[in-house]
Amino acid sequence: MSRRIVCTGRGGVGKSTFVALISRYLKPPSLLIDLDPDLSLADMLGFDFHKEGKKTVCEALYEVVEKRKSGKGSSLITTQDMMNSLLWSECLYEDRAFDLITLGTKLTEGCLCFPDELLKKTIPKLAQNYTNIVVDSPAGVEHLNRNIVPIINDLFVICDLSEKSLKHIPRIKKIMEEVGTKYDHFYLVANYEFDQGAEEYLKKSGEIYLGKIEYDANVEEYNLEGKSLLGLPVDSPALVSVKEILTKAGY
Ligand SMILES: Nc1ncnc2c1ncn2[C@@H]1O[C@H](COP(=O)(O)OP(=O)(O)OP(=O)(O)O)[C@@H](O)[C@H]1O
Ligand SMILES: [Mg+2]
Repeated sequence: MSRRIVCTGRGGVGKSTFVALISRYLKPPSLLIDLDPDLSLADMLGFDFHKEGKKTVCEALYEVVEKRKSGKGSSLITTQDMMNSLLWSECLYEDRAFDLITLGTKLTEGCLCFPDELLKKTIPKLAQNYTNIVVDSPAGVEHLNRNIVPIINDLFVICDLSEKSLKHIPRIKKIMEEVGTKYDHFYLVANYEFDQGAEEYLKKSGEIYLGKIEYDANVEEYNLEGKSLLGLPVDSPALVSVKEILTKAGY
């Protein structure tokens, strides 16, 4: 049974950076799932998803729907069945250190219900092949309503230095309760903006506070230049803090 890890938080707090950094310390094989439409996780891991010949789930789905509209393909095979095989062959990027699947942007009008549902059904099947499933979420809480990973082992909530961030914590819990998301651990992590005084707010929040990700000029530089965060020196402050955070969480 794989460990299901979800990282969430408000916009720009450092979620994708956190996912990229923890992927270095997780027992392989890990499957990373990027639910953010802008494919930023692949960028941070130093490759271009499309140049690698891969499609997002939404792109693959769009092609299947267009094919069916034009009358191509067997009418006996459902869109769901067609997509199930495409997810493996066209959407799964495989690397030595990790695999990655990305939801992408919807190419037609309407909601993300169908691609979300596809991923929700596929994740338990994919999970059989991996030690860890790690989900990088888009900003905010909307993805929680979509309940794509209904059973989570470790939820990491990355907090920024604002009152809104603190209000965000009970909101997340309420939504997960309403939509029936189950989790074993609800962890708070402070992002690089926090100082010691501000950390007190998280320590007193009543939730499990794992610590702060240190400010790291290397992270800034690597992200700016599009270099893979997997290449950060081991003594980089953010990498060291992420390792400590994982240790506190029992990894
Ligand atoms: N420890 C750190 N030190 C310095 N800068 C950091 C650190 N962590 C993240 N950043 C910077 O913060 C910015 C946002 O990071 P990131 O993209 O990981 O956030 P996000 O929460 O995934 O954003 P979004 O909500 O847009 O998906 C990036 O420019 C990144 O370089
Ligand atoms: Mg992100």
